[in-house]
Formats: sequence, C-alpha cells, structure tokens
Amino acid sequence: MRNNETMHFDTAIIHAGRNPEFAATPIHMAATSKTYYTRGGNPSIREFGQAVAVLEGGDYAVPAACGMAAVTQTLLALLKAGDHILCHRSVYDWTDWWIRDEITRFGVESTQVDFRDAQAFSNALRPSTRMVYFEPLSNPGLDLIDPRRVIADAHSIGALVVVDNTFLTPALLKPLAYGADVVLHSATKFLNGHGDALGGVAVMNNEDLYQKVYRSLNLHGGVISPFNAFLIRRGMRTLAMRMARHCENALTVAEFLGGHPAVTGVRYPGLPGDLGYALAREILPDGSGGMVGFTLGGGQAALDRFTTSLKLIRPWVSLGDTGSLLYGRHPEPRKGIPEGFARLSVGLEDVEDIIADLGQALGIEMTTDNQDVFSTRK
Ligand SMILES: Cc1ncc(COP(=O)(O)O)c(C=O)c1O
Repeated sequence: MRNNETMHFDTAIIHAGRNPEFAATPIHMAATSKTYYTRGGNPSIREFGQAVAVLEGGDYAVPAACGMAAVTQTLLALLKAGDHILCHRSVYDWTDWWIRDEITRFGVESTQVDFRDAQAFSNALRPSTRMVYFEPLSNPGLDLIDPRRVIADAHSIGALVVVDNTFLTPALLKPLAYGADVVLHSATKFLNGHGDALGGVAVMNNEDLYQKVYRSLNLHGGVISPFNAFLIRRGMRTLAMRMARHCENALTVAEFLGGHPAVTGVRYPGLPGDLGYALAREILPDGSGGMVGFTLGGGQAALDRFTTSLKLIRPWVSLGDTGSLLYGRHPEPRKGIPEGFARLSVGLEDVEDIIADLGQALGIEMTTDNQDVFSTRK
C-alpha cells in the first residue's frame, strides 16, 4: 500500500489512512471480495498500515500478524545465502535467536557487536554485509544507539539498515528520516497501547523493498487479522498523548529507583548519568520512552522475591500497555545484561501509585536476610 498523505503528526495520528466515509474504521472480516483476498491485505488492514507509514514518514507499509512476522518476513525477503547480517549485541530475545540460529540455517552469516562502539561496529562490517539490524533503544538492556552514525557507516558499504522502533515509536524517533531502509514494529506494544491485540508492521520508502517484503509476507502467510488491525488503529489514535505520559512517568520512576538503597543500577537514557544521556538529549527531544531497567544487588533470587511482592505492577512479559508490567526472568545470560536485571514498562497509572508499589516491594526485599548484600553496595 502506498501512502501519499501529508499532515502534522498529531493530526495524522487521528486521521491517517481513514476511509472518508466513516468516523471509525470499518472492520472488514470477509476472506475474499471482488477486489481482494485478505491474505494480501484488505481495507481494515491497509488503514492500519497506512497510518503507521504516515507517522513514520514512509511511503509504503506491510502490516503483519505480529512483530516477529514483520521481523522474519523482512529478513527472509532481503537476505540470501552468502549474505552477512550485522546485529547489535542485544536485541529482543526472539529476534536474537532468529538472527543467531534460524536465518543461519539458510546460509546467511550473522554476527553481533556493540553498536555503541563506533570502532567495533565499523570493524565488524564485511564486504558481504547486506544488512545492519538494531533497535535504537534496545530490548531489554536499553542501550541507546546513534542511528545517524550506524546508518551512514552501513550505507557507505552498500548495506541495508533495518531498525526495530518498537520501544520508541514514531512519536519519539523516526528512523526513516535518518535514512533507515526499513522500520519495523511490534504493534502489539506502544502503537496499540492497550494489550489486546497482536500486530506488526514494516515501513519503507523504496518500492522494490516494499514489493519484496510484501511478497514474502503473502507467501508465508503472516497476515494480521482485520479485527486486530482495527484494534491497533484505534489504539494508535492516542499514541502521542500516551507516549508523553509514559515518558513523564518513566523519568520519575527512574529517579526514584536511582535513589533507592536496594537498587544497584538504573538504565534510562533520560536520566543524567545514564550512558545514553548525552545522545538522548540530541535525538530524543520529546522524551526517552516508557521503559526503565534496574538491577537489584541480591541478583536473580532477590529479583524473584521482589517480583512476588508487587501488588499493582504485573510481573508479566510484554510492554507498552496502559498498566505497568515488569519482566525479570531473562531466559539465558544476556550480553550486557547483569544478573538480577528487571525491565519495567512504566504504565499510565498515577506515578505515585507505581512508586508506592515499587517502594513497598523493595522494602520487603530489604528486610530479608539479603540486607547485608545491599548495605555494601554503594
Ligand atoms: C523490540 C521488539 N521487537 C519485536 C517483538 C516481537 O513482537 P510480537 O510479540 O508482536 O511478535 C517484541 C516483543 O516483545 C519486541 O519487544
């Protein structure tokens, strides 16, 4: 689908892609019609895709069943045996596994390096590097990566740049404006914002890339349900307001955690002292997102006890919902992720209630026999 709309961001959030005949998106559940077969898209699906394309500043969008469908179809479409993909050292677990263990089954070589290290990054590029892949704010470690440098270096050797913008959303960062070739989303997260539908999308400006990714998605069948496309498009109408509140709450929570004696480290690029702080001031003027990372001195055991004491914040996977979610069981030791690391998706609740819940659970943890671990920490 091609986007040819231009309007201000806050207006586009409401109106982009809309069928002018209706005030809300009609849900087209028909599997087939005079003009479409739904595996290749239909009006409800196209409206969702076009809206994301407009917000990201892209010409084309390929909606997908979920974020992983967008990731895998984009990589399958654009890589072939003999190509090399260079990925940031830490990306979403399932993307990480896919790039390490799955695409390599098809003769693609993959390596990972810390993209924040400019020298290591350029040393890792090869003549065969066809694609460079990263999340500008990485899951789960919240490494902030400079898209300007990575994109310029990758393009200098003719590699494509694919950026997963799930954590920041176009409300905070637009990678296509820096020259990225494809922007991906798990629309399940902040774009939808309400935790009630899975979806994904790939956005690009180049028609050839679009045709390849669209064909791949159609071939492999990772189509989004029209009902989910409707729900996500509906959720997106409040994206700008939600992201502003996520950012405000997250900064307050990061400041609270940074001052708490049970917490050994906090990661939030909007927090002075964070490794990404200077870069965040340059590229994230509207806020550093709704995700905060922190580490407890007592390691995984302390984190497990802390997690079971939470009353408001739910200790479940996923992120970007209205309600706060905490994820603290990383399935294998991760590059750059310390033991006892928790990823908190700060919700839209009153921030005093979020802090009260964190405070009471940290208080319980500190009164356990791990107290001595914390007392030697700072
Ligand atoms: C950064 C990122 N990309 C992709 C995905 C995959 O999205 P989905 O769960 O919609 O397949 C996730 C899921 O958590 C994610 O956090």
